[in-house]
Formats: sequence, C-alpha cells, structure tokens
Amino acid sequence: MDAKPDASNMQKIFPGEVFANTADFDAGIRQLLPRYDEMLEVITRCLPSTSRRILELGCGTGEVSLKILNRCPDAEVVALDYSPRMLQFAQAKITAAGYQNRWSGVEADFGDWADNPEKLNIGSEFDACVSSLAIHHLNDEMKFKLFQQIAASLISSGCFWNADPILPESPVLAEVYKAAREDWAAQQGKTLAEVRAKVGTSVTQGYSSQDQLASLDTHIQMLTKAGFVTVAVPWKYYGLAVFGGWLCRF
Ligand SMILES: C[S@@+](CC[C@H](N)C(=O)[O-])C[C@H]1O[C@@H](n2cnc3c(N)ncnc32)[C@H](O)[C@@H]1O
Repeated sequence: MDAKPDASNMQKIFPGEVFANTADFDAGIRQLLPRYDEMLEVITRCLPSTSRRILELGCGTGEVSLKILNRCPDAEVVALDYSPRMLQFAQAKITAAGYQNRWSGVEADFGDWADNPEKLNIGSEFDACVSSLAIHHLNDEMKFKLFQQIAASLISSGCFWNADPILPESPVLAEVYKAAREDWAAQQGKTLAEVRAKVGTSVTQGYSSQDQLASLDTHIQMLTKAGFVTVAVPWKYYGLAVFGGWLCRF
C-alpha cells in the first residue's frame, strides 16, 4: 500500500506510517487511495452495533476508531499501534470527539503480540477485532500467526474485519489497479506523483516491512485455517479489499 518514496524525502518512518509528516496522513491517504472512507465504513458496518469490546490493530491516526465509536454507542476500543507519532494524533482526535473514556491507545507491535502473547496483556474475550491498511506489512507466516492470535482473543461469536491491499490477480490487473489509483488522484485534483512527494522512506521496524501483499485467496485460506467459520469479502475495489468473518456460522 505504501507508495514509492520520493528520493529527496529522507526522513525514515515506520512501515505503514506512509507520510513523512504524520500531519499529512489524514488528507494524504484520501488522495492516495480510492474510496478510503467507504472502505472503513464497510468495516464498521460489519460490526454488531451492540459490540462492547473491540480491538483495533494498527490504528494509525484513529480514523477507524472514530467511526466505530460513532456507530457503536456501547463500544470501548483498545487500539494498538507501534508508532508513537500515529498514536499521538489518534489520541488527540479521539479526545477532541469526546471519546477518551471509551478508547485506549497501546504502543505495541501486533507481530510481537502474535508471537509472544504472554508479553502484552491487552485482555481477551473481544467481541470484534478490526484492522485497516496495516497487516499487509507482515510476512505471510506472521499474518497467519496473527489471525490465529486474533481468533484466540475473541468471544466464540466474535468477528474480525480487515481492510488491506491485496496482491493483484495478474500483471494485467496490476496495471488496471494502478491506473485506477492514478484516476482517483486526478479526481482529487492531484497527480499520484504529487501525493507521493509527501511519502516518507520506511525501514523495517519490528515485525513490519514495506508492503508484503498476499492474494485474496491466500487471506481467505489463512482465515479459515485460523478458525474463522464464516469467511467473507464484503467489499473489493480494484486492489483493495475488506475481508474477514466470524468464528461461528452467521
Ligand atoms: C497506513 S496506516 C493505517 C492507519 C489506520 N488503520 C487507517 O486506516 O487510517 C498503518 C498503521 O499500521 C501501523 N503498523 C504497521 N505495522 C505495525 C505493527 N507491526 N504493529 C503495530 N502497528 C503497526 C503503522 O504505524 C500505521 O499507523
């Protein structure tokens, strides 16, 4: 999902932070990715509105958390991110919306949580887990481990929804997806090159590296193997998809 960095932009950031200045994230991600808000809305719509305990992995500047807290009045969100910069922006946004009592930010690597769950006590029995644009930074072995850890941390009727870029199904479609992003940036009055000028250079951090995309099929297989019984893809737009499911029949 990260765009190719501009060579003149030397600030090193964590994979997934995307922009050299965190302040550019909210506007920049909406120019870089088609239908970002719609994609996040799909995640929140797939959650039962009665959800009480929700875990978010890679919360960034808090855009998903905010949408969840708006939609699920009883929900409390535990939001994990390894970037103190992103968490700081998320905390400010959540506080400005008056939701600080229903949101806790945790600075941690979700790969480490999957590998060593005993090291991080964030609780269990979550009603739901969500993530967007973050898990694709793990390699496939760690993605699967994370899906297993998520399954182990949910109630028996719990669900998990993830929005992420997927590996294009063929080289021809890779070109089609790229063109769709170019068109999207143009519709926002920008070129992709202009948006990418603000992108930072990321170096491997903890368990995350630059994009490590898997195909939609691979994700579905991993989710099923991790214990998700009802697996679904409620949204797909070119190379972006929302996928996940429930631990039970639904
Ligand atoms: C592209 S941002 C998306 C943020 C938010 N979910 C959204 O959709 O706006 C990806 C986020 O994942 C975080 N991230 C990436 N790898 C991570 C890891 N291994 N552990 C915790 N956070 C991670 C990054 O710091 C970043 O905040």
